Amino acid sequence: MKEKQLIYNAFEKINENKKNRKEDPYRLKFHLMPPVGLLNDPNGLIQYKGVYHVFYQWNPFETSHGPKFWGHYTSTDMIHWKEEYPALIPSESYEINGCYSGSAVEREGQLILFYTGNVKTENNERKTYQCKAVSNDGVHFEKSGPVLFLPDGYTPHFRDPKVWKRGNTWYMIIGAQTVEEQGAAVLFSSSDLEKWEYKGPIAGSFMNGLGQFGYMWECPDFFELECKDVLLVSPQGLEPEGYKYQNLFQSGYFIGKWREGTTEFPHGEFTELDRGFDFYAPQTFQDERGRRIMIGWMGITDEREAFQPTIEKGWIHALSMPRELVLHGEKLYQKPLLELMKLRNSKDFSQHISLVKEEKSWQEICSDVSELKVEFKKIEAKIFKLSIRNNVEITIHLDEEAVTFKRKSWKDGSVESRSCPLKRCEQLHLFLDTSSVELFLNDGQEVFTARFFSDPHDKEIVFYTDGKIDLLLEKWSLGAYQ
Ligand code: FRU
Repeated sequence: MKEKQLIYNAFEKINENKKNRKEDPYRLKFHLMPPVGLLNDPNGLIQYKGVYHVFYQWNPFETSHGPKFWGHYTSTDMIHWKEEYPALIPSESYEINGCYSGSAVEREGQLILFYTGNVKTENNERKTYQCKAVSNDGVHFEKSGPVLFLPDGYTPHFRDPKVWKRGNTWYMIIGAQTVEEQGAAVLFSSSDLEKWEYKGPIAGSFMNGLGQFGYMWECPDFFELECKDVLLVSPQGLEPEGYKYQNLFQSGYFIGKWREGTTEFPHGEFTELDRGFDFYAPQTFQDERGRRIMIGWMGITDEREAFQPTIEKGWIHALSMPRELVLHGEKLYQKPLLELMKLRNSKDFSQHISLVKEEKSWQEICSDVSELKVEFKKIEAKIFKLSIRNNVEITIHLDEEAVTFKRKSWKDGSVESRSCPLKRCEQLHLFLDTSSVELFLNDGQEVFTARFFSDPHDKEIVFYTDGKIDLLLEKWSLGAYQ
C-alpha cells in the first residue's frame, strides 16, 4: 500500500514536471533523452520478444543526481520509440537512495532485471545490494529483492551488475572497489539466477600486468566477439597520460581470452572507446540478428554538468546513438547502427570537390540535424579543418597523423581540446543533432562524441585546407525519432 502511494505520488510529480518543461531548441531529435529531469547510464539493454528495450538511470524530479529510477523506452525498429512507465522506482528499504545501474536477461519467457539497490544511512554510510526484478510482459516489473550481498574484501562501492549466460551457467560481473581502494571487476556464477557464487576479481588495478589503474571501476560489461572476450569498464581515477585519459572518468575495454568459468582473463591494454568529451558508462547487448550493439551515456559527471543550459528548461543529458561493435584485430570499431539510415530525409548534397588553400561553405550543407560524409580522394595538404556552428572544430593533421577535436565550453566559453593519433585518415562520418556531434573516423576506428550549445540559429559548417584536397562530400538531412 505504502509503495503504491509512493508510486502514485511519483507519477503525479513526473506529470507535473512534464507540463512545466519549457520549450528548448537544444532538445535532441534522434537521441533518447529524459522527458524531464536527469538521465545518466543506459541500463538493461535487451531485445526481448522482438522488442528493443532501453532503460536508463533517471532522476525525474531534479536536474541533478539523486535517488535514481529506471526510465524505460521501447522500440521495434530503433527509430520509433515509446516511453513506458518507469520500470523501477526506489521504494524499498534496500534501494531507497536509488535503483542504480544494471542489466537485463531473458529466461523462460521472462524479462529479468539485475540492478544495484543503493542505500545511504543516516551517518552517510553507503550500503549496496544486488537486486532482481521480474516481468512477464517487459513493462511491469515485480521486485524480488536482493540476491547478493557485499562480499569481504570490497568497500560498498560495489555495483552495476551485468549478467549473461554461457553454456548452462549464468555469470554476473560487478564494478568494485577493493578495501585497498583499487578498482576491479568481480565475477559471480549461478545456475538459477537466485543463488550466486563468488568467484573473485577477473580484472582490476594491479592485476593481469596492469599497474595502478583507478580507485573504482564502474559499469562493467563482458561479452564474446569473434572468438575473443571483451571486458568493457568505466574506471575512475586514471591520470591523464599524453593523448589518453583526458576526461575526469574514462570508459574503455580490454580484449583477452577468458578461461570460461574461472577468474583467469589474460588481456591486453586498456583502450578508450571515445576520444571526445561526453561518453561514459556504455552497455552492450546482442540483438536477434547477432549484432553486438552499444549505447553510452552522452555525458559525464564533472564540474561542467551543473552549467548545462538545458537545466533551466527542466532536463539534462541524453544517450548516444546506438553503435554496432566490430572487432578488427585488437581494436573495437564502432559503426552507426544501420537502422539510422531510415532517418535520412533527403540527400541534399553529393559532390566531388577540390579544396585549394581556402575556406569554403555550402548552403545545402548547413543544417542542424544532419549526417555528413567526407571521403578523401587525394591529399596534398598538411591540414583539413571542419568548423561546426562556430562551436566545434575538427582538425585532421594529415602530416602528423593525428586528429584534434575542439569545443567551446558552455561553462565559460573557453576552448577545450581532445586529440588522438590516426594513421591515414580516409573518411569522416558525422552525425549532428541540435546540441550534439558524433564523429566516426575511418569507419568507426576512432569516435569523438560531444554535446555543444551553439546559437540555435547558427547552422554554419566551414571547410578549410592549407593545401589541395580532392574529396567526395555527401550530406543528408535527418528526421527525428518518432
Ligand atoms: C555511473 C554510475 C554507476 C551507478 C549510477 C548511478 O555513471 O555512477 O556506477 O550505478 O551511475 O546513477
